[in-house]
This record gives sequence, C-alpha cells and structure tokens, in this order.
Amino acid sequence: MKRLGIISLFILLFSAFIAVWNYSYYQGLEEAYIPKTYDTSNLIIPSEEGVFKRSNFAYDYLEMSVDKNHQRSLTDYYKNRAFYGAPPNIPHPTSMEGTIGENHCLKCHENGGFVKKFNAFAPVSPHPEMVNCRQCHVDKKTSTVFKENYFKMSSPPSVGDNKALLTSPPMIPHQIQMRENCLSCHAGPSAPKEILVTHPERVNCRQCHVPSSLKVNEMETFKRKN
Ligand code: HEC
Ligand code: HEC
Ligand code: HEC
Ligand code: HEC
Repeated sequence: MKRLGIISLFILLFSAFIAVWNYSYYQGLEEAYIPKTYDTSNLIIPSEEGVFKRSNFAYDYLEMSVDKNHQRSLTDYYKNRAFYGAPPNIPHPTSMEGTIGENHCLKCHENGGFVKKFNAFAPVSPHPEMVNCRQCHVDKKTSTVFKENYFKMSSPPSVGDNKALLTSPPMIPHQIQMRENCLSCHAGPSAPKEILVTHPERVNCRQCHVPSSLKVNEMETFKRKN
C-alpha cells in the first residue's frame, strides 16, 4: 500500500513536471524574440534624443519585406493634411469619442503594425510623448469648405534632388522640430515609399544628413494684415 502511494506520488510529480515543462515550452514559442537593443543612455545629445528613440526596431525594419499592396505614397501622406506641417486629421472612425486619445490611440500608433479593420498599416507617431492626441488631431467632419476662399496649400519640399553629388547623402529638406524620430516616418511598413530609407540600421542619421536651412530662411515672419 505504502509502495503504491510512493509510486503514484512519483507519477503525479512526473506528470506535473511534464505539464509545467510543456506549458513553458509553448509559452517560449509564443514570443521567440531577441530584442536587439542599443545602450543609448550615454550617447544622447539632448536636441537629437528623438533620433535614437526608434532605433531598437532598426534591424527589424531592415529585415522586413515590403508589402507593396499596402504601401503609402507621399500623395496619401499629404491627403490628410490641410497645409504643409499641419497635424493630419484622423482618417478613420474612432471609438471613445470623448477621450483625449492617449493610450487608446497609442495602442496602434506607438509601434505601428497592420490593422485589419482599416486594411492599412498604422503610421507610427513621431511624438509618442505628446499624449493629448485630440488637442491637435481631430476627426474629419466634412470635406467641403464653409466659405469660398483663395487658400492654397504650399507645396512640400521635393524628394530626390537634395544631394550635392550623385551618391552623397541628401540634405534634410524639412524642419526637424517634432520630427526628431526619423525612423517613425522613414522606415517600417507605414513609411511612404518615396522616402523609405534603405539603411535604417545606420542609427545616427544626422551624422551624415544635415538640415537644409534654405526653406527656413525663405519663410517670412507671419504678420496679420488688419
Ligand atoms: C485599431 C488601430 C488604431 C487606433 C486605435 C487608432 N488608429 Fe489612427 N490609424 C490607424 C491606421 C491603420 C491608420 C492608417 C489609415 C489609412 O492609411 O487608411 C491610421 C491613421 C491615422 C492618422 C493619419 C496619419 C497620416 O499620416 O495621415 C492619424 C492622425 C491618426 N490615425 C490618429 C489617431 C488618433 C488621434 C487616435 C485615437 C483617438 C487613433 N488614430 C486611433 C489605426 C488606428
Ligand atoms: C501638439 C500637437 C500634437 C499632439 C498633441 C499630437 N500630435 Fe501627432 N502630429 C502633429 C503634427 C503637427 C504632425 C505632422 C508632423 C509633420 O508633418 O511634421 C503630426 C503627425 C502625426 C502622425 C503622422 C505620422 C506619419 O508618418 O504620417 C501620427 C500617426 C500622429 N501624429 C499621431 C499622434 C498620436 C497617436 C498622438 C497622441 C498620442 C499625437 N499624434 C499627438 C501634432 C500633434
Ligand atoms: C513626420 C514624418 C517625418 C519625420 C519624423 C522625418 N522626416 Fe524626413 N521626410 C519626411 C517627408 C514627408 C519627406 C519628403 C519631403 C517633404 O514632404 O517634406 C522627407 C524627406 C527627407 C529627406 C530627403 C530625401 C530625398 O530623397 O530627397 C531626408 C534626407 C530626410 N527626410 C531625413 C530625415 C531625418 C534625418 C530625420 C530625423 C532627424 C527625418 N527625416 C525625420 C518626413 C519625415
Ligand atoms: C553613414 C552615412 C549615413 C547615415 C548614418 C545615414 N544615411 Fe541616409 N543616406 C546616406 C547616403 C550616402 C545616401 C544616398 C544614397 C544613394 O543615393 O545611393 C542616403 C540616402 C538617404 C535617403 C534617400 C533615400 C535612400 O535611401 O536612398 C533617405 C530618406 C535617408 N538617407 C534617410 C536616412 C535616415 C532616416 C537615417 C537614420 C536612420 C540615415 N539616412 C542615416 C548616408 C547616410
């Protein structure tokens, strides 16, 4: 009787072991992911901090194949913007109308990824630390104008002709305020195809690409007419 007890205890322990091992083995398979992280803590120059924010994903972006059917173009990119530099309106239905956004929006917009119900890749927010999304991004209520006017959207800087020599790194044709997270727009499946970078792994973008001051100098100070 005693022997039977010991044997069944062992059988019990053994099957418990198998069950636990099996569970943790499958748990391990669920997320076999080796994050390739850089220690950026002592590399950051404050004004360039954002450049490195998404660099943890640089190798993933490099190895990702391009999903041509769901790639954005610069035309799509400017479709939701009233003028150059304007915050894009929210082009999709949102639940939780009354909220400011925050975690609800960041679920999709912090790291991006394919969203089946919108049949598109979510663009990654270049500024995940600004959590009051609806302060700047609003739902589109109408596509007609309230009153006839002469407003014309100024054209954005051109792409492809920003280099001094054929193989030199192009200058950054846009301002970099609120655009410090270079990889959020230039890499990954939501990046417009014209500006998709071939080298997301060269993390320190501004080592080679310098901002062009031309556009800034050309801009006049705004003066109210009346
Ligand atoms: C379920 C995932 C999901 C949630 C939640 C979500 N979005 Fe989106 N968002 C998307 C996808 C996908 C797109 C791309 C749509 C397209 O290209 O048709 C998008 C596009 C946008 C764009 C346009 C970007 C551009 O460059 O034109 C803005 C702005 C935006 N969302 C803001 C928000 C805000 C603010 C919230 C919270 C109130 C929010 N989103 C919640 C998935 C989501
Ligand atoms: C202070 C105003 C402000 C706040 C707050 C803000 N945004 Fe933006 N957002 C902008 C502006 C301006 C742009 C356009 C940037 C540009 O073109 O340089 C933009 C661009 C974007 C884009 C487009 C990126 C792309 O590749 O097309 C997404 C997505 C986005 N914001 C999501 C969000 C989400 C999600 C939140 C809240 C967690 C948020 N934003 C909070 C002003 C804001
Ligand atoms: C909000 C999205 C966004 C962010 C963030 C952003 N860019 Fe851009 N970038 C663009 C767009 C859009 C263009 C195309 C020109 C235009 O419409 O302004 C562009 C153009 C460029 C070009 C010219 C490419 C060519 O072939 O002529 C370079 C270089 C560049 N960006 C570098 C950078 C660097 C470096 C950073 C980080 C400091 C950065 N960008 C951050 C959206 C972005
Ligand atoms: C070691 C220097 C170097 C670094 C670092 C670098 N680039 Fe480049 N980049 C170049 C050169 C050179 C070209 C021109 C390539 C060509 O025309 O063949 C280029 C081209 C580009 C273009 C035009 C499209 C393309 O891929 O040809 C974009 C956009 C761009 N870089 C963005 C970035 C961003 C964003 C980063 C940071 C993740 C970055 N670059 C880091 C040297 C660099």
